[in-house]
This record gives sequence, C-alpha cells and structure tokens, in this order.
Amino acid sequence: MRPPADAIGTLSLIVGVIALLIFIGVEGALVYAIWRYRASRLVAGEAAAFEGNRRLEIAWTAAPALILAVVFVLTLGTMAEINGAGVAPAMRIEAIGHQWWWEFSYGGVKTANELHIPVDTPVDLEVTSADVIHTFWVPELGPKKDMLPGVTNRLRLLARRAGSYDGQCAEFCGIEHAWMRIRVVAESQSDFDAWLRTQTQPRATIETKAEPIFLANICVNCHTIRGTAAAGTAGPDLTHVGARATIGAGVLLNGVGRMRAWLADPQRYKPGALMPSVPLSDADLDALAAYLVSLK
Ligand code: CUA
Repeated sequence: MRPPADAIGTLSLIVGVIALLIFIGVEGALVYAIWRYRASRLVAGEAAAFEGNRRLEIAWTAAPALILAVVFVLTLGTMAEINGAGVAPAMRIEAIGHQWWWEFSYGGVKTANELHIPVDTPVDLEVTSADVIHTFWVPELGPKKDMLPGVTNRLRLLARRAGSYDGQCAEFCGIEHAWMRIRVVAESQSDFDAWLRTQTQPRATIETKAEPIFLANICVNCHTIRGTAAAGTAGPDLTHVGARATIGAGVLLNGVGRMRAWLADPQRYKPGALMPSVPLSDADLDALAAYLVSLK
C-alpha cells in the first residue's frame, strides 16, 4: 500500500543519514591511511601482500554481489509501485506532445499545457506524439515517459499534496524544446470536478466585438474555440485559454498585455514556433487579446 507523505519524508531522512555515515566512514578510513602510512614514516622492508588469498577474494566478490542482488530486488518492487502495479487508476487522461506544446484530453474535452489532476488519486496518462519524439517529465510526480508518434505509452501520476508542479519536455525535439514547459495542478476532488465541468462547457464569453476578428483571421486554421465555428486542431484548444497560467507553453505569464504582445509577434518570444504573427490593427489586437484572456 502507499505510505503517507510524512512516512516518505522520514524514510528519506533515514536514508540520508545512513549515506552520510557511510561517507564519513569511507573518507575517514582513506584520510587515516594516507596519514598513517605517509612516506616520512616509511620503515624498511616490503609491505604485506595478499596475493592468492582465496578466502578473501571470494568474500570481496560475494559480498558486493549479494548487496547488489538485494538492491535489485528492492528496486524492482519500488519500480512496480511507482508504475502503479496492483492499483487501478481512478482516471485516464490522454497527453499528446506537439512541437512545442502539450495537448491534454479528458474523454475528448481538450486543453493545453496545464494538466489538472485530483490530489492523492492514481492517474494514468496515456502519452503519444503528433510529430517527433517528446518526453513528458514532471520530476516530483513520477518518472520520464517517452512520447512516440504512433505508439501510446502509459505513465502513472500520483500527486500526494495539492499544489502546482512544474515539468519540462525531456527529449530534444527541435528549436523550441526548452519552451515546452508543463504545469500540473493537483487539486482537491471538488476543485478538480469544478475545473473539469468548466472545461467541458463551450466558451464563456458569448459575444463581443472581438470574436468576429478571431473568426475572420488565420486563427481558425489552427485553433478551436468550442461554441464558435473555430475548429482547427493544429494548435492548442483556446476555449478556456484565459484560465491557464501561461501563454505559449510557459513562455509568458497570461494577461491581456502579454497576450497582445504574443499575438502581435509570437516569433519574438518563441522563435521557430509554428504560430505566425497575426496582421491586425492596434485596436483589433487590443480587442482580441482582451477577448482571449476573458475565456476562462
Ligand atoms: Cu518536446 Cu523537447
């Protein structure tokens, strides 16, 4: 069974103390030997030799082999536990790596770059890629998992504490690999349910002057805003883009001013990103940025 978070903290401390004691013991013996047998104290004659001592050789071969065998078996058990053996996942989420952003799908409800999960709940992430090889990696929540085009890998995630956990693509995938950030928000079941309910809805802002600007431009080729005619799938789903913490998979914090700057010149912030500049007047840029950020 899963031990509570406090037990893991205590265990880490004990392991740390043992490692420190071993370090002090080994280094202490080394320093002592260097001092004790220094050249100035050399006495005439030859040092003792241990050549051909069969018992000693068997002992120093068998002891490490035994220790490694025990560590190996313990590691297999821990790896199985990390991968969720014997514990059924409470939910499955699809994750697709793109150059250079993340698509998350909750039973067909899509969002991007910010993964929400309920706390203390085993979640299976089914990961794949739309283009090249990416690697999903949020160090505090689990191991790395490769995202390969045409293959679906499974990654068990378990957040023991509520909060936000940052991660990063861990496989070089092109020029903007470094700006392929992940944010995982682990929240209580009720907060998660409320978030998912909102995500399932079509866009919140029903009509503004800005929506037609979005719909009349190249935005619709790549982006979806559910509740409108925009249904592109090459870029992130923007139905609730205003609720996300960042723009461009972590490149800018979300906000009207930064959204405006991003729309005006994405290449300035994320050179090589597949998003082109949108040729709009200043007034239209203002309106479009405000509209997108209002989509909570
Ligand atoms: Cu995706 Cu590196």
